[in-house]
Amino acid sequence: MSGSPAQSQHQTVLGIETSCDETAAALFSNGEILADRTTRQLLHEKYGGVVPELASRAHEQLLSPAVDSILSESGLDVNDIDAVAVTCGPGLAGALLVGVSFAKGLSAALNIPLIGVNHLEGHLWSAELSGSSIPLPFLGLLISGGHSMTIKVDGFGQYKQIGTTRDDAVGELFDKVGRMLGFNFPSGEDIDSEAMKHFDSHTSDPIRFPRAKLKDDPYGFSFSGLKTAVLYHLKKIYTKTESAYKIPDQDRTEICASMMSSVGDMLINGLTAASKECKFKALVVSGGVSASRYLRKRFKDYTTEHQLKLHIPPIHHCTDNGSMIAYAGYLRLLNGQTNSLDLAVNPAAKLTDRPS
Ligand code: KG4
Ligand code: ZN
Repeated sequence: MSGSPAQSQHQTVLGIETSCDETAAALFSNGEILADRTTRQLLHEKYGGVVPELASRAHEQLLSPAVDSILSESGLDVNDIDAVAVTCGPGLAGALLVGVSFAKGLSAALNIPLIGVNHLEGHLWSAELSGSSIPLPFLGLLISGGHSMTIKVDGFGQYKQIGTTRDDAVGELFDKVGRMLGFNFPSGEDIDSEAMKHFDSHTSDPIRFPRAKLKDDPYGFSFSGLKTAVLYHLKKIYTKTESAYKIPDQDRTEICASMMSSVGDMLINGLTAASKECKFKALVVSGGVSASRYLRKRFKDYTTEHQLKLHIPPIHHCTDNGSMIAYAGYLRLLNGQTNSLDLAVNPAAKLTDRPS
């Protein structure tokens, strides 16, 4: 079933992403995205986090209309799809199953290749969706709701994890603290916007929150200490209503700015440590948290200072989307890496785990 590299370049790949609370589909063909649709499941907001069972049910309802809509937007028929790529892990088991079952059905009905895609690999290469290829080896920083890690990348499929978080992921920190601050779930975007209100006119952080340094693991990250520090700060000064603290707007802005500054310093420290691994040609930052305006500026400054090329996906391709799955699927197709209809979901997949 695997296509030869020469054929594959002109093939139209459908990408499907249902690993968490975004139902997403996209079509990639001839080096570009033809259509892309992401529906964020807002129903989880009131629960303060993703409810797995509700996520699976919503994917079931939203996925087929999403595929229909990208086909009609690109003027294609379902028979024009040459291969179907789908996230098979990591993620929520039930949610992944919805996407994988749908993709298997299409693959069998249309007799086209099925390509399992590791969600983390999708994020990593999404930086190429802007059209420029990334020089190798590059240093990857993957920051999302579930992961915070640095990776040495020698090529597609050639990864070595350098450092990771020992507790919360950065996005998880934002989502947990965001709840205390009274923001909806997920909260990263709101925290970032608040922080920028401060940093648009100031350079220093108003409250000095801690920056964790791990003596036994210089490459690693830890964000739970920062979460506790913010919680103690809130407890000391403000009263709690039902779920969030009652905080004046100006104070909330300053808390967000100070927290962002601490996160920025810790990520830069991790990059500085990881840079000692090898002479990298570029820094690639991806995952939902890479949409942060504040952090994007920090990475820009870091790479300018260290004369590295910086590759970050456009903002709309930072959070979960179908384009990154279609593109990684296309790269797998180029390498002849397709799967059988026995493709399994792997909710706890690591970046180095091959879909099988
Ligand atoms: O990659 P993603 O969509 O899902 C996972 O694979 O986890 O990342 C979601 C995370 C959430 O924690 C969310 O709060 C965070 O990305 N996020 C942001 C921004 N937009 C989303 N964090 C900071 N600034 C943003 N603009
Ligand atoms: Zn993701």
